[in-house]
Amino acid sequence: MVTEESRKKILVSPSILSVDFSNLEKDMLSIEQYVDMFHIDVMDGHFVPNITIGPCVVKGIRKVTRKIFDVHLMISEPEKYIKEFSDAGSDYITVHAEVKYPMLKLIHEIRKFGKKAGVSLNPDTDIGCVLPYIKELDMITVMSVFPGFSGQKFMPEVLEKVRLLDNARKVNRAKELLIEIDGGINGETAKLAVEAGADVLVSGSYIFGSRNRKKAIDELRGWGKGYLLS
Ligand code: DX5
Ligand code: ZN
Repeated sequence: MVTEESRKKILVSPSILSVDFSNLEKDMLSIEQYVDMFHIDVMDGHFVPNITIGPCVVKGIRKVTRKIFDVHLMISEPEKYIKEFSDAGSDYITVHAEVKYPMLKLIHEIRKFGKKAGVSLNPDTDIGCVLPYIKELDMITVMSVFPGFSGQKFMPEVLEKVRLLDNARKVNRAKELLIEIDGGINGETAKLAVEAGADVLVSGSYIFGSRNRKKAIDELRGWGKGYLLS
C-alpha cells in the first residue's frame, strides 16, 4: 500500500551525441557536477544509419571525468568490441536485443570484464526477449525513438513496455535493475517516463540545447519528487 509521498531516485544520463564536438571536454565539464553519468552513443553505420564514437574517444574522455560511462552500443557485432570498450573505461555496456549474437553470451562477456551489463530494445522490439535475463541484467534501455540520431520525437507508445518491465522487476525481485529510457526526453516526456517506471533518463538535445543546462537537468530529475513509491 502507498503510505506516504516519497522521492524516487532519478538518474540523469546526458547523451554526448548532442555536444559541440569541437568543445567536447568543455561541454562535458559544464554539467559534470549535476549529472549521474554520461551516455555515450556508439553507432557503426550498419546497425543504424549513422557513424559516431569509437573506443578511442571513450578512452580520451575517460581522462577528463570520473563519472559513470553509460555506453550504448548501436552496432551489429558487439561481441567483437566489448573488450575494447571495456578497456577504454566504460562502466555500463549496453548491447541491442536485435543483434544476432546470443544475448546471454553477450551479458556474460560484459560481466567477464567486470562491467555492468545492459540490453536495449528498439521501439518495435517486444520485452519478451529480455525477460528470461531480467535477473542477469543491470540495466534495460527502452528506446523511445528508433536509434540513429538525436533530436527525434518521443514515441509515447513505448511507455507500456516501461510499465511492464517495472512490474516484471517487482515480480522477479530484481531490485537493482535499472530501467532506462532513451530518445526524445525533455521536461514533459520525462514526467511520462518516470510515471511509467523509468529510473534513468537519457537526454541529449534537450540538455545540451538548453540555455540553462543545470535547470534542465534539475527539471528532469525533479519528476522523482512526489512520486508515490509502493
Ligand atoms: C539515439 C540515441 C540517443 C539520442 C538521444 O539513437 O541512442 O541516445 O542521442 O538524443 P535526444 O535526447 O536528442 O533524443
Ligand atoms: Zn543512446
